[in-house]
Amino acid sequence: MSCHKRLSTETNNNKNNSNNNRVNNKKAWLILLLSTALAVANGQAEANGKPHIIIIMADDMGFDDVSFRGSNHFLTPNIDALAYSGVILNNLYTPAMCTPSRAALLTGKYPINTGMQHYVIVNDQPWGLPLNETTMAQIFKQNGYYTSLLGKWHLGMSRRNFTPTERGFDHHFGYLGAYVDYYDQTLMQNGKNYSRGHDFRSNLQVSHEHVGEYLTDVLTEAAVQLIDQHNATAKPLFLLLSHLAPHAANDDQPMQAPAEELAQFAYIKDETRRYYAAMVSRLDKSVGRVIDALARRQLLQQSIVLFLSDNGGPTEGMHATKASNYPLRGQKNSPWEGGIRSSAAIWSTEFEKLGSVWRQPFYIGDLLPTLAEAAGISLPPTLKVDGLNLWSALKYGYESVEREILHNIDETDAYFAYTKGKWKVVNGTTVEGAYDGWLGSRHATEIDPRAASYEQVIRNTSVWQHLQEVNRGAERNITALRQQAQLGCSELPGTPCLPLKAPCLFDIDVDPCELNNLYEDHRNASFFLDMWDRIEQFAKQAHPPANKPADPKCDPRYYKNEWTWWEDEQQAGDVGVGTGTASKCLCVNNLPFILFIFLATLTGLWL
Ligand SMILES: *[C@@H]1O[C@H](CO)[C@@H](O)[C@H](O)[C@H]1NC(C)=O
Ligand SMILES: *[C@@H]1O[C@H](CO)[C@@H](O)[C@H](O)[C@H]1NC(C)=O
Ligand SMILES: *[C@@H]1O[C@H](CO)[C@@H](O)[C@H](O)[C@H]1NC(C)=O
Ligand SMILES: *[C@@H]1O[C@H](CO)[C@@H](O)[C@H](O)[C@H]1NC(C)=O
Ligand SMILES: *[C@@H]1O[C@H](CO)[C@@H](O)[C@H](O)[C@H]1NC(C)=O
Ligand SMILES: *[C@@H]1O[C@H](CO)[C@@H](O)[C@H](O)[C@H]1NC(C)=O
Ligand SMILES: *[C@@H]1O[C@H](CO)[C@@H](O)[C@H](O)[C@H]1NC(C)=O
Repeated sequence: MSCHKRLSTETNNNKNNSNNNRVNNKKAWLILLLSTALAVANGQAEANGKPHIIIIMADDMGFDDVSFRGSNHFLTPNIDALAYSGVILNNLYTPAMCTPSRAALLTGKYPINTGMQHYVIVNDQPWGLPLNETTMAQIFKQNGYYTSLLGKWHLGMSRRNFTPTERGFDHHFGYLGAYVDYYDQTLMQNGKNYSRGHDFRSNLQVSHEHVGEYLTDVLTEAAVQLIDQHNATAKPLFLLLSHLAPHAANDDQPMQAPAEELAQFAYIKDETRRYYAAMVSRLDKSVGRVIDALARRQLLQQSIVLFLSDNGGPTEGMHATKASNYPLRGQKNSPWEGGIRSSAAIWSTEFEKLGSVWRQPFYIGDLLPTLAEAAGISLPPTLKVDGLNLWSALKYGYESVEREILHNIDETDAYFAYTKGKWKVVNGTTVEGAYDGWLGSRHATEIDPRAASYEQVIRNTSVWQHLQEVNRGAERNITALRQQAQLGCSELPGTPCLPLKAPCLFDIDVDPCELNNLYEDHRNASFFLDMWDRIEQFAKQAHPPANKPADPKCDPRYYKNEWTWWEDEQQAGDVGVGTGTASKCLCVNNLPFILFIFLATLTGLWL
């Protein structure tokens, strides 16, 4: 514990010493002290008025893999109960991959404006969300929240400064890299000869405590405990429950689910899809248990609960799970709606139109300003977020904010996708077009036996019952809502889009499935030329991608088979093949640095 304290002190020193000017250093210290004092005072004064914010994020879940969209292949009764009780976010857009999506969530910015636009952070690459970016966790923490990340980070780990407790989270319990095994929490990097590395921590300390348990349950249990123990009078809670599910595990055993969960889906013949159903179903139970815990603590009334996926599901290709984004085109890591449209729902007693489908285009980067508004936090304009504050639109159910969303400009993969109002432009594509098709399908014959009494199953969930109680039993027409959340797509073939040959233009309102390319019809129209200009403007201002090539010094074999902040470890010295220095507490390696800062402070800064 004492060791932990020292580390945080060192970090503060580190941040505030980055500027070499002595006077500024002194100022920085004073500002730090003052702002800490203010934040503490603030937190105590206002905690009660602020909503608790609970974000439950699925990893790589398909658009059609929640049953509130109409699929009966396997049911997700808890997520559905949340959706019908709250507001279904019908047009929530995210980047098409994990790292850019999480960067957009936490910064409120388009990935091209933070250098996070290309691909993801592969575990052996020494880069992360740039350290000068402010995260949502920092903002909520500064405004009196207790901030916790449970589960996946994936925004950098090669240096300790990249990791969640250095980026605004009071607490992290989970993994730092791309994914892990559901049981032993290891990642074996594809195509490399590194050793298999364990990646799971409690704050900064390696934790093997839950090896052997199913990760979805471990994270759920941690969320339940956190909610049970949280002192809601002292501080409002900001919880990002960032699940591994239903992401694939390592390639040697990508699909993993507890036997009893799997047994429920014996009617699904395809083995991968059967495992996938069980993985999603366990995730669905997690949503139920978190809402139960909030209800038990009587915190629901003051909570905003959001469920979403970070991006579309991978039906095919790398880490494929047979996820389905039906009826949308494409999948994860593609510019199409199947890659960037998330099945999501949000609930709060603040909403006037609970039990509705909200069609307002909403970007994952809007969540920062929108939730900040809900918490009465005013963001400094210097933050320059790209996201819009849509809190009042969400609260009153307006759908009329015309807006643009820059989905991505990836010069490395040579594609971009951009939406303005109902129009979407796609130029170029990923993976040479391998994911350009309509890859998902909906099973007509394999049906979850519970689907026969679908409404009863939903009403039977504790989620439904708790939320009904808080909503004072407002009636909902589940069947009607389920119909409204379905997307209609034309059966007629339209003009094809060949994105490697020429740009494509779609009217997403009538053609969410991107079947009919209207580029030739409108290429000279002023609205289209304006869109094109706007994209060029974004491209000009884009940050260079922050990606860096692999660094074999990350190899877990040097660190007791742990994935760790290897650049710090290397700098600290004594790292050699076979003599790992990673330990549960990494203080010893950093003692010289701490001493240096301590002495520097004594001798220089205060004179
Ligand atoms: C962070 O630093 C980069 C590179 O120096 C710069 O381009 C960017 O604008 C900075 N971001 C912020 C939020 O200050
Ligand atoms: C991979 O690592 C193992 C164990 O260190 C070593 O024996 C083997 O030669 C390596 N293979 C390659 C291709 O580098
Ligand atoms: C919760 O916090 C409040 C305000 O800081 C404090 O008065 C109270 O004793 C705390 N309750 C518990 C159970 O720690
Ligand atoms: C509803 O829950 C009750 C009690 O748990 C159970 O007996 C019943 O079978 C459930 N009904 C449906 C349709 O799930
Ligand atoms: C619910 O909506 C469905 C479909 O719109 C409709 O057929 C049904 O009559 C509605 N039920 C009630 C109780 O209003
Ligand atoms: C649009 O895509 C085409 C074909 O991939 C490419 O030649 C062109 O440079 C792209 N235009 C822009 C503005 O990126
Ligand atoms: C748009 O302009 C191009 C080139 O100037 C021309 O070839 C094409 O026919 C025009 N298309 C329409 C729909 O007007």
